Amino acid sequence: MRRALCFDTAGESAVLGDYTLSSFGIDVGMVPPEIAKKLPRYPLIPATLLGHLAVDERHHGEGIGEFLFMDALHRSQGQSGPIAAVAVVVEAIDEQAERFYQHFGFIPFPTIIGRLFIMMKTVKQLFA
Ligand SMILES: CC(C)(COP(=O)(O)OP(=O)(O)OC[C@H]1O[C@@H](n2cnc3c(N)ncnc32)[C@H](O)[C@@H]1OP(=O)(O)O)[C@@H](O)C(=O)NCCC(=O)NCCS
Repeated sequence: MRRALCFDTAGESAVLGDYTLSSFGIDVGMVPPEIAKKLPRYPLIPATLLGHLAVDERHHGEGIGEFLFMDALHRSQGQSGPIAAVAVVVEAIDEQAERFYQHFGFIPFPTIIGRLFIMMKTVKQLFA
């Protein structure tokens, strides 16, 4: 699923930013042990992958990234029931992107560079 935030001036529409959500599986062996022990005992744990989050660079620093990011988390939480997703996973393209996600509480996978996650339980608390 792809979501885009657009604006329209003088009949011309432009994309300010967008992101995608898709189903994902977390290899339980890749999660920090203190978190792995609280997860269901399946080799692959269902999760939601938040991908391609990006904002038109002319509009960086205006709060659009946070707006899209929160929208993505809210939707992930809304859809987590049917697919039993226990976490939201992101693949950061560089260290700056990694810092953006860490700013919002994402935890790096210990052995996979650029991949981070947040537990769905934490996301639910955010919107409670
Ligand atoms: C990362 C990105 C989506 C942020 O979008 P943005 O609209 O500029 O960010 P916002 O203005 O909404 O910032 C929201 C908050 O995140 C913080 N933030 C933004 N970029 C950050 C970064 N690289 N590292 C740490 N914090 C960051 C801001 O300081 C702000 O915090 P505050 O509310 O406490 O002041 C944007 O820079 C981008 O499109 N980058 C290129 C693509 C990319 O890196 N995507 C990430 C997924 S791979």
